[in-house]
Amino acid sequence: MAKVTVRTLQKLKNSGEKISALTAYDYSTAKYIDQAGIDIILIGDSLGMVALGYEDTTKVEVEEMAIFTKAVARGTQRAMVITDMPFMSYTIDIPSALRNIGSMVRYGANAVKIEGCNDYILELITRTVEAGIPVLGHIGFTPQSQNVIGGHIIQGKTTDATMHILQQAKLLQLAGAFAVVLEMVPEESAKYITENLEIPTISCGAGRYCDGQILVCDDIFGKYSEFKPKFARRYGDMKALILDCATKYNNDVKSGNYPNDEEIFKLSEEENNLLNSHIK
Ligand code: KIV
Repeated sequence: MAKVTVRTLQKLKNSGEKISALTAYDYSTAKYIDQAGIDIILIGDSLGMVALGYEDTTKVEVEEMAIFTKAVARGTQRAMVITDMPFMSYTIDIPSALRNIGSMVRYGANAVKIEGCNDYILELITRTVEAGIPVLGHIGFTPQSQNVIGGHIIQGKTTDATMHILQQAKLLQLAGAFAVVLEMVPEESAKYITENLEIPTISCGAGRYCDGQILVCDDIFGKYSEFKPKFARRYGDMKALILDCATKYNNDVKSGNYPNDEEIFKLSEEENNLLNSHIK
């Protein structure tokens, strides 16, 4: 099975076939998501909330992204593995940013995602691509800047704001980004941006007309229950499944119903007799 590359994603946009993307944070989940045929697996910094229990993404460390990147990369064969660069890991200066970005590729990422669009970010994207590392941009609502934005606020709600996001997307494209995530943008605005861009757009709450869709895996599995974004769709109830399995196991342990005959190792009869005749 052929690995998904930047070329595959561009071909999907050009042919009109949608790009599917999902986050994953551990080996087994990545393996099943890959087997399901998802094109992109993102080790999102959303892991800060759903896997590490932080209140937002600004608490995530480079070292934490490294561990989850290694696990996901080991579980993935076909999908493109993209690591989200965490808060402040790429904004201090270009050399330290490139060091952090390069380490994610060494841990198994095929590309990185970087939030925002300003002169510094554009230069960083160019330098990263020149270093041989593909970059996925991320504009619209950018969670790492939520304290500056003032909350989870929909972006691009006016024509002027849409034109501003389109201009950012074009600059990211020019800097060398292979695609761009549009987060929490009205679908008419996202459609306009998508139609005026050569590289693919990936929607995260930006409606039906982007070239692809991305969601957080814990949201679609019904595992993370603290908060469900309006745009996320639940396909399962893993919370109920985990609660049910753990409750049954707890009851079985307490009642002595676990383990049973098939779930234990036995001594040979001879060793058992010897053991029982052993005088302490
Ligand atoms: O951190 C994340 O999971 C993301 C998304 C685009 C879903 O950035």
